[in-house]
Amino acid sequence: MKRRQILTAGALGAGALAAVPAAAQARGPKQDDRGKRTPPGLAKKDTLAFAAGKELKIGSAVAGGGHHTSQPYPPPFTDDETYREHLATEFTSLSAENQMKWDHLRPDRDTFAFADADAIMDFATEHGQDVRGHTLLWHSQNPAWLEEGDFSADELRALLKEHIDTVVGRYRGRISQWDVANEIFDDDGNLRTSDNIWIRELGVEIVADAFRWARAADPGALLFFNDYNVDGINAKSDAYYALIPDLLADGVPVDGFSAQGHLSIEYGFPGDITENLQRFADLGLHTAVTELDVRMPLPDGAEPTEAQLAQQADYYRRVTEAALAVDGCDSLTLWGFVDTYSWVPATFEGQGAACVLWEDYTRKPAYHAVQDALAEASGRADHPALRD
Ligand code: XIL
Repeated sequence: MKRRQILTAGALGAGALAAVPAAAQARGPKQDDRGKRTPPGLAKKDTLAFAAGKELKIGSAVAGGGHHTSQPYPPPFTDDETYREHLATEFTSLSAENQMKWDHLRPDRDTFAFADADAIMDFATEHGQDVRGHTLLWHSQNPAWLEEGDFSADELRALLKEHIDTVVGRYRGRISQWDVANEIFDDDGNLRTSDNIWIRELGVEIVADAFRWARAADPGALLFFNDYNVDGINAKSDAYYALIPDLLADGVPVDGFSAQGHLSIEYGFPGDITENLQRFADLGLHTAVTELDVRMPLPDGAEPTEAQLAQQADYYRRVTEAALAVDGCDSLTLWGFVDTYSWVPATFEGQGAACVLWEDYTRKPAYHAVQDALAEASGRADHPALRD
């Protein structure tokens, strides 16, 4: 299929629609932000989900909790209808951005607060979407009562087991993949023996136990290691590549390895991402890209330049192509899809515009790059809903 030019009206953002005469907008077929006319009746197929077909699950994080609680907008998932509509139509898989983390589920020792996680599960069921569970054992976003509690090793072990039994058990049969252990290595490939409470207090064996408990609680869910900066081959991904075969040899039920994919155009693209995912696939594992976003430096509130948007689109396209290229890479999840709710500006000072849609939900070149790559792989590139 011909590759469509990625740097077109999308780069103009909201202005692009304004260039279309009002009468044409009202009368004619739906026109998207790079001038493509979608025949009437087909607009609902002009999505990432349709472009992907059966080739790959295409997912998004569901915004809520975490940084959202200190932002000047109402909770996105419950209060923003446009957001919900995009979430329902663009994606075939959902991840809880924060709603299944310890600090969200466990306000105190004796309480499981499932309402927000349940709402995501119900939404996914209603729209026929997969759910990735995130996450069970992590050094971050743990409640203070846990981190600062004076628990013995036996008590901590019992707490983690109870948590995994209860949470994984509650959604048994409804979650396709669990990020059982998140970010257990630092960038040098060393185990987080000081900041990860579980590994510090209980030793690395607790990681194997977490996988065993998760398997027992839901035998049907695929169980993953998940981390950032493991997109390419480096000290950290090497550490997983060394650890996982040992665990498998001991009969620990590890099914998958996933790269988060929090990228920045400030740094070079991890050009060996396909090779990296493939070497884990060759161990017999499933792989996934679980948290893709591509941020850019925007000092003093600057707008993205066309060159930045083109580079961002290129990064999104290459990650999508890598996910499509590796057998057993089942899903590609975006860490949010609209800039309004992205964690990036709240987390990385002077950076932003990391998602595929502008704040008004018009499409960036990055959206088209992902959609084109998906459609090429699924054979739908020339479908009238998708072609120019
Ligand atoms: C982030 C969320 O997006 C924010 O809302 C929250 O404030 C902090 O955590 N790696 C992960 C995710 O595994 O859980 C993180 O999500 C981003 C980095």
